[in-house]
Amino acid sequence: MNDLKGRVAVVTGGGSGIGRGIALTLGAEGMKVAVADIERTSADAVAAEIESAGGRAIAIGVDVTSVGSLAEAAGEIATRIGAVSLLCANAGVLARIGSLEEHTVGDWEYTLSVNVLGIVKTVGAFLPALRTNAPDAHIVTTASLGGLVSDVRAPIGAYIASKYACVGYSEMLRTELAAQGIGVSVLCPGVVASNLIYTSADNRPDAFGEQVRLGAPGGTPPPPPPAVAMPAEDVGPIVIRAIRANRFLVLTHPRTKPLVEDRFRAMLADFDFAAGG
Ligand SMILES: NC(=O)c1ccc[n+]([C@@H]2O[C@H](COP(=O)([O-])OP(=O)(O)OC[C@H]3O[C@@H](n4cnc5c(N)ncnc54)[C@H](O)[C@@H]3O)[C@@H](O)[C@H]2O)c1
Repeated sequence: MNDLKGRVAVVTGGGSGIGRGIALTLGAEGMKVAVADIERTSADAVAAEIESAGGRAIAIGVDVTSVGSLAEAAGEIATRIGAVSLLCANAGVLARIGSLEEHTVGDWEYTLSVNVLGIVKTVGAFLPALRTNAPDAHIVTTASLGGLVSDVRAPIGAYIASKYACVGYSEMLRTELAAQGIGVSVLCPGVVASNLIYTSADNRPDAFGEQVRLGAPGGTPPPPPPAVAMPAEDVGPIVIRAIRANRFLVLTHPRTKPLVEDRFRAMLADFDFAAGG
């Protein structure tokens, strides 16, 4: 997908952090952007930012864990700005910083419901619209560098497992949709400045139990030193380049390359071991 101008994009989790950064960039590229978020006020603010910069945007309240909410959002977007050509399935949460033993079943359920099933449901809701625009149609899912390597220096087991699942799902999706002319990329960022550790608890359903407020006093302190965090606004241009080139993996932090090299070197060594080497 090369020609973005005038086409319709939807960004879930568009009200904050990486989603906001992507939405602003798409707006500046001349796309009509649906900023979709469970926090309607944040979506309103980002849509207003895009419009005040001369772009075209609407705000949509949506819960990506709900098929019904997604169906309503898809219908509203189609009616107000047209059929979606670019889907950024980006909404995600971090439910726990702590050892696997400290993770509750509710932590797992909440994490997987948003980070894995939320993406699956989002793609399901927008695929019919994307098909009508193929071959000018593209999906970007947001996983994480933690979907490629687990050595991210933070005890976030459920989050890592959810992001590995997102990468696997996105690989399969790319293969299956290629014949239909729909491109698929998976964004795997390193640390990006956002509200993830501060607000992930805000919309956790009661059924999953209460969440320790990660960034709040008394909660587990956030691990990444702010100096290494990339500004969220810098992610959007990287994503757009990848969409235009139909690249699969969208990576953000070149200095993390050795982590991936170590993982694959270890994997190859296991093949050598299995072969008796
Ligand atoms: N910040 C990082 O360092 C980093 C690194 C790698 C990957 N990611 C991933 O990037 C994505 C965006 O996160 P972020 O860091 O910008 O965090 P963020 O908290 O700033 O933004 C996430 C947005 O998703 C929304 N959201 C949460 N649950 C939702 C739901 N059920 N339905 C609709 N919207 C919902 C939130 O309201 C919020 O606006 C996530 O998938 C996250 O896992 C973040």
